[in-house]
Amino acid sequence: MIEKHCNITAIVLAAGKGSRMHSDTPKQFMMLGGYPVLYYALKAFQDSEVNDIILVTGDEYVDFCRENIVDAYDLSKVKAIVIGGAERYDSVRLGLMAAEGAKYVLIHDGARPCITQKIISDSIETVKKYAACTVGVPVKDTIKIVDCDQMGVDTPDRSKLWQIQTPQSFDRELLLSCYDRLGLEKYTAITDDTMIVERYSEVRTKVIMGDYENIKITTPEDLKIALNFLKKDVDTK
Ligand code: CTP
Ligand code: MG
Repeated sequence: MIEKHCNITAIVLAAGKGSRMHSDTPKQFMMLGGYPVLYYALKAFQDSEVNDIILVTGDEYVDFCRENIVDAYDLSKVKAIVIGGAERYDSVRLGLMAAEGAKYVLIHDGARPCITQKIISDSIETVKKYAACTVGVPVKDTIKIVDCDQMGVDTPDRSKLWQIQTPQSFDRELLLSCYDRLGLEKYTAITDDTMIVERYSEVRTKVIMGDYENIKITTPEDLKIALNFLKKDVDTK
């Protein structure tokens, strides 16, 4: 019964610099189909069963986010805009601390505008059962491990490989305890939160089907791809 009324908070990450995009404007604030990239993910959570949204961004973008995105589009579930950190996991930690009162958190890249309502509701259903969940898709290409000279080393069995997306959803206490164990050292190879849970707890992450359209905007061609995926929605406005 308690499960039904527990607080579910989305933590939307938008504190990155977008170095691989090579743009003056961080990719999450670039315009896409008439809206800032970040708007789409916030709007998806606004329209979902999530109770609250914590937005994490750079200190120089807090006012921009409040005025041009949160207030401009009446995103009333955004309860706080917090300042992120140098690495993605620093930003997650700061968002997690601000999500006080949440039983479950859905951590999502602000640079993934094509998130769907199905992804959000499937994630919520799954995290209530497994305490740790991520969306992903089976890889389509063969993946090869190469060395620093770009010589092939090994080829993992493709049938076991999934490409991991966000949202990644956790029992907040579980993820907080893993972050406590992580400490404040710097790590270069931690790219998502399921890695932290794998390393610092016994809990196994349930991987559920995301969507091949739920891409992360990383390099310039991704903007064109995402625009095509979003167009069906934008055109109806
Ligand atoms: N992110 C964040 N804080 C950081 C780094 C990343 O909030 N210190 C966010 C980004 O804004 C993005 C998401 O995490 O929404 C995924 O990260 P990534 O695609 O790596 O974005 P950037 O770090 O901004 O890009 P790059 O790695 O190319 O510099
Ligand atoms: Mg990055």
